[in-house]
Amino acid sequence: MSKVAIIGSGPCGLSILRSFQQAESKGEKIPDIVCYEKQSDWGGLWNYSWRTGSDQYGDPVPNSMYRYLWSNGPKECLEFADYTFDEHFDKPIPSFPPREVLYDYILGRANKADVKKYIKFNTTVSNVIYNGSEFEITSLNKKNNNISKEKFDYVVVASGHFSVPYIPEYEGMKSFPGRILHSHDFRDAEEFRGKDLIILGSSYSAEDVALQCYKYGAKSVTIGYRNNPMGFKWPSGMKEVHYLDKLEGKKAIFKDGHTQDVDAIILCSGYLHHFPFLEKSLTLETHNRLYPPKLYKGVVWKDNHKLFYLGMQDQFHTFNMFDCQAWFARDVILDKIQIPSDSEAEKDINDWVAKEEKLEDPIQMIDFQTEYTKDLHNLSDYPKIDFELIRKHFKNWEHHKEDDIMTYRNQSFSSAVTGTEAPIHHTPWAEAMDDSMETFLATKS
Ligand SMILES: Cc1cc2nc3c(=O)[nH]c(=O)nc-3n(C[C@H](O)[C@H](O)[C@H](O)COP(=O)(O)OP(=O)(O)OC[C@H]3O[C@@H](n4cnc5c(N)ncnc54)[C@H](O)[C@@H]3O)c2cc1C
Ligand SMILES: NC(=O)c1ccc[n+]([C@@H]2O[C@H](COP(=O)([O-])OP(=O)(O)OC[C@H]3O[C@@H](n4cnc5c(N)ncnc54)[C@H](OP(=O)(O)O)[C@@H]3O)[C@@H](O)[C@H]2O)c1
Repeated sequence: MSKVAIIGSGPCGLSILRSFQQAESKGEKIPDIVCYEKQSDWGGLWNYSWRTGSDQYGDPVPNSMYRYLWSNGPKECLEFADYTFDEHFDKPIPSFPPREVLYDYILGRANKADVKKYIKFNTTVSNVIYNGSEFEITSLNKKNNNISKEKFDYVVVASGHFSVPYIPEYEGMKSFPGRILHSHDFRDAEEFRGKDLIILGSSYSAEDVALQCYKYGAKSVTIGYRNNPMGFKWPSGMKEVHYLDKLEGKKAIFKDGHTQDVDAIILCSGYLHHFPFLEKSLTLETHNRLYPPKLYKGVVWKDNHKLFYLGMQDQFHTFNMFDCQAWFARDVILDKIQIPSDSEAEKDINDWVAKEEKLEDPIQMIDFQTEYTKDLHNLSDYPKIDFELIRKHFKNWEHHKEDDIMTYRNQSFSSAVTGTEAPIHHTPWAEAMDDSMETFLATKS
């Protein structure tokens, strides 16, 4: 019997666990599986933690989600094809749920599939080497400090890539009298009520952290972009200016000459793909992009077809794309899918990378990732789901954001699995201060 190691039990780790369980439920023989999870619970980033810095064992905290985080894309775009929102909640729910609701949904499928038995919690993978025929994994049980070594035929890296912050430095930071933090350590916008804030970055974290702080009472929010502004119509009290030059005491001086007194700075400067546990020849080296190179079908390590990476792309599509990747990786492991010759695999990778490098705007990026996901979907028995409708939803969502960044989360979309039309939420997002599942799911008269 072959042995598979999965590193991480976030959405990607849970996707591949579910894919094996589905094959087994259809009567197929599946390998021995061990899933290593360094946290005490599953769900990855969706498993909110108040902690920042280190956990109680001295291990870096991977969690980057914060209080009052709502889905930034329609839930209909990430729905599992084999476990719908209707099945989980027993009624239609609005399109942009808060974190706790999506966390509940993710765990609903994992519990139904009964995959917790495969997971070793509080266990950090510290080293992975390939000895020419097998992988040797070293792991640390954080509770009792026991180090173990185990051998595997296959390794699936599902450790995420939004946990290790990229932290740039600007002149004047050392003597800045206020607080400087990365969005990875941002937990509660209430902390910045009444404050003048600077946010650096121009992607999803910059957008959402800035809006959160504005929503929960920051006095002013100034966003400094490096290359391109997000360009949304910001409400009064928020503005976007070009790049921070330096700080002089409490004063921020921007490249365009703009100055602003500031109490706190939040760096929304992205994350590193960081795999300190992998030997160099197995390590994916990339920035956050839609098609990291060296991965056949975005999943199989080009130089060793027994090593898989899930979810390493920049993400429009998430949970159902992770599923398509997981089902594909499972079928390679079960020998149902053959990897082509090195030259064909290389050509496939290069074709995708070349297409990706020509993309110019979010609409083209949505098309690209939809094509990629459809390509994978066709290669396994992952259940039917209408990716064309999802493509359309993503484009409408982009337009809604351009129309009004404060109201795009009030829109409703239809399911690409069941066709169910989402109801409009009882409270517009900008006024919904309570993000609990109980309040979100309540029907207000
Ligand atoms: C702030 C923020 C908000 C987001 N909001 C959304 C959203 O609204 N909608 C959406 O679809 N996506 C969102 N995402 C994207 C997010 O990347 C995915 O939804 C999803 O969590 C990715 O799953 P994953 O399994 O790849 O990684 P993670 O969720 O990061 O899970 C990785 C798991 O691996 C474990 N692990 C890591 N290293 C080791 C190790 N060495 N040994 C053992 N275990 C290890 C971690 O503890 C973790 O449990 C957001 C991301 C961030 C940062
Ligand atoms: N649910 C939600 O509402 C929510 C909230 C937050 C995040 N997220 C998710 O979290 C993930 C990560 O998003 P992210 O925005 O953290 O990372 P990201 O998308 O990788 O963006 C990184 C940003 O950092 C900027 N940057 C890098 N170096 C910089 C520097 N030296 N100075 C200033 N800016 C710098 C980049 O600017 P350039 O463009 O100039 O390179 C880019 O705008 C995404 O999947 C997103 O969807 C979701």
